[in-house]
Amino acid sequence: MNQLVVRPGGALRGRVRVPGDKSISHRALLLGGLADGASQVSGFLSCGDCMATLACLCALGIEVEIHNAGSLTVHGRGLRGLRASAGPLSCARSGTTMRLLTGILAGQSFASALTGERQLLRRPMRRIVDPLRQMGAEIEDTDGRAPLTVRGRRLHSREHTLPVASAQVKSALLLAGLYADGPTTVRQPGPARDHTERMLAAMGADIDVDGLDVTLTPPPSLSPFSLRIPGDLSAAAFPLVAAALVPGSEVVVEGVGVNPTRTGLLDVLRAMGARVTVESEKIQGNEPVADVTVRASGLRGVEVGGDTVVRMIDEFPVLAVAATQAHGTTVVRDAAELRVKESDRIATAVTELRTLGARIEPLADGFVVEGPTPLHGAMVDSHGDHRLAMALAVAGLVAEGETIVQNTACIADSFPGFEEWMQGLREGE
Ligand code: S3P
Repeated sequence: MNQLVVRPGGALRGRVRVPGDKSISHRALLLGGLADGASQVSGFLSCGDCMATLACLCALGIEVEIHNAGSLTVHGRGLRGLRASAGPLSCARSGTTMRLLTGILAGQSFASALTGERQLLRRPMRRIVDPLRQMGAEIEDTDGRAPLTVRGRRLHSREHTLPVASAQVKSALLLAGLYADGPTTVRQPGPARDHTERMLAAMGADIDVDGLDVTLTPPPSLSPFSLRIPGDLSAAAFPLVAAALVPGSEVVVEGVGVNPTRTGLLDVLRAMGARVTVESEKIQGNEPVADVTVRASGLRGVEVGGDTVVRMIDEFPVLAVAATQAHGTTVVRDAAELRVKESDRIATAVTELRTLGARIEPLADGFVVEGPTPLHGAMVDSHGDHRLAMALAVAGLVAEGETIVQNTACIADSFPGFEEWMQGLREGE
């Protein structure tokens, strides 16, 4: 059914694993497709967004063998091995697919059309189109948005200074830089996730990181890889925040990615007084991975802004839920990017959490929450936004009575099986 019914219950307890990291799964496909030979990937996230990337890659002539859940072989054909797709490439609802793929396609010797579902066609694309054009790309947009037509060209070396910290924009430019006639530098205003840089480095590319500046010198070729993708901290965020809020809970998420460009939520939860531990840290596939534990505790309000926002950009819907249960005021600033995600996450989180009784006010670049507030179950809507849907489900765990989250098919965009998975934790005692 396209809705989720949540009732408060007992403590959440267990040692669990979350599905593979979505950002890394996209990149494993795309970069695997450009490698000279076969790459082995395990822990791949078979979600709606990543399957969109897979379908596009196949349409571009790359063979991907799916062995079983999460394990696949990408038969890379080299940097010049992609072939023109017979029809438009549909990126479904995935911004990462569209933005990263556009970077790659800008440097090919053929033309491509990229489109997607209505939700994606609303999202800003000028942020990639303008800098790619400065590299010599020929791209037609639709009023700054997709559909896009990309006519592949020989690209030029360029230094870009990004106005917003965005891993999708940075990655699009670095991927285009694989096809440039000299180095591509991206200067970022904040520490956006660096999975593309790490993967390119692991594949033998010459990539130089100097603080927030990244320079790629185009490599003659990329080596194939064998990669075990870590669990997705942005998926783990939901059970971890739930564990912080539901009395008596203790949840350990094993093997989850703890790349410092992604761990802002853990820092903020600690600042709120949550009991968070990160143990058994190791490097896996050039990414730090660890076991993260959260135990229930009282929380206090917190101020979030600056680089921390970038390091937890996908976690604000669930942070807003945590803030409703914290003592005092939580203020989020510098987060205007939330307005151009799968939904306007400032507007949608405010509307839906108010329906549950939260005291939350929007700001142009964030929101303010007064807590603690007893939430009451009600009918709420995801606005087709997977992260809002799951955040509202977490709110339902601490609300009195029944919470019905409508329009939840979108959860499969990033976390297929979320409902059963959370149910397993509730029975973990
Ligand atoms: C992503 C980057 C982020 C994030 C998105 C995934 C990526 O977007 O919100 O879910 O894989 O590069 P922005 O780059 O637009 O901040």
